[in-house]
Amino acid sequence: MKKILFIDCCIRREDSRTKKLADHVLRRLRQKNGYEIQELCLMDENLSYFSDGFFFQRERLLAEKNYDHPRFRYANQFAEADKIIIAAPFWDLSFPALLKVYIENLCVEGITFGCDETGMFGTCKADHMVFLTTRGASYPKGDPMEMGSPYLEAMCRFFGIDRYDCVAADGLDLGLRPVNDIMREAIEEADHVLETL
Ligand SMILES: Cc1cc2nc3c(=O)[nH]c(=O)nc-3n(C[C@H](O)[C@H](O)[C@H](O)COP(=O)(O)O)c2cc1C
Repeated sequence: MKKILFIDCCIRREDSRTKKLADHVLRRLRQKNGYEIQELCLMDENLSYFSDGFFFQRERLLAEKNYDHPRFRYANQFAEADKIIIAAPFWDLSFPALLKVYIENLCVEGITFGCDETGMFGTCKADHMVFLTTRGASYPKGDPMEMGSPYLEAMCRFFGIDRYDCVAADGLDLGLRPVNDIMREAIEEADHVLETL
């Protein structure tokens, strides 16, 4: 059975519009056969950023090649998934710091990436990553003010995942279009992407 890792960083939980998009995607995924869904709610994890002892412990464990240590469980889980779905709102031109802390914990040489004389290469099994997000204002693709999706696309390449899609509900706080219309379009777009999963 193929594994889908569903990473939930919708900080506002049930009030979150990103969570509503994510819940729709989750419902659709549960209807698909042949997939096991692993849900990881980052708000329920006790994630730590690297500082002092937590950083040096990592250096020590990597020198020992102790990749089975519990602190590497996020990296191992990520590396073994067949598909990755991330849901997070647009915050401060990218995404919440909690997701960055998670990514910091994912980047483990020997688990999610490797390095040789030719450079760095991803070692993750997944072939597709999907990012679900909602944004207050509108950001056309390529807008330099939108640094969330381009960053995740780069991480996707870094991890060795070939395909990346972003589904965004844009302009939710501008008051220019009804929120329901924007959300419905994003849900339709998500359905198209899911067909290619
Ligand atoms: C802390 C915070 C920072 C935000 N930063 C931005 C921003 O930089 N640009 C923007 O267009 N909207 C910004 N927003 C608005 C959100 O992107 C928008 O309301 C989004 O739909 C929130 O997602 P949620 O309902 O899933 O929490 C911000 C909202 C919050 C709470």
